[in-house]
Amino acid sequence: MELRVNGERREVDVDPSTPLLWVLRDQLGLTGAKYGCGLEQCGACAVLCDGRAVLSCATPAGSFAGREVTTVEGLAANGELDVVQRAFVAEQAAQCGYCVPGIVIAAKALLDETAKPGEAEIRAALARHLCRCGSHARMLRAVRRAAAELARP
Ligand code: FES
Ligand code: FES
Repeated sequence: MELRVNGERREVDVDPSTPLLWVLRDQLGLTGAKYGCGLEQCGACAVLCDGRAVLSCATPAGSFAGREVTTVEGLAANGELDVVQRAFVAEQAAQCGYCVPGIVIAAKALLDETAKPGEAEIRAALARHLCRCGSHARMLRAVRRAAAELARP
């Protein structure tokens, strides 16, 4: 089957019922999206699909055919990190980092859709993402930082 991932057309030899996460990680070598629960309960496997944050651990890859999938690896362009990625680095918004790709994806989707999100919108966008290290406060700061940078004239 064929998928569009990070701006490229990719041919993969898999059963279309295989969850997208395994296709990304095992077939395409894109290990940014993580396996946390496999039950759409933790957010570690989030990717963008046509600009919206979606969970990839339980949805068949076949349902992504004809859509644009972007993983955390696809956010940087021309060797430059995306504004959200830079903000996470600046705020040191991680401990083990396992949850971070999914949360960066959620923040990216929010900021692409909402120019100046309020605190409630930021918290709502991150609500389904678990962080067992307790880095939530730094992550919220990182999203606020990215939002402020984007709002700068
Ligand atoms: S691994 Fe997909 S939501 Fe937990
Ligand atoms: S930084 Fe470790 S799970 Fe979030």
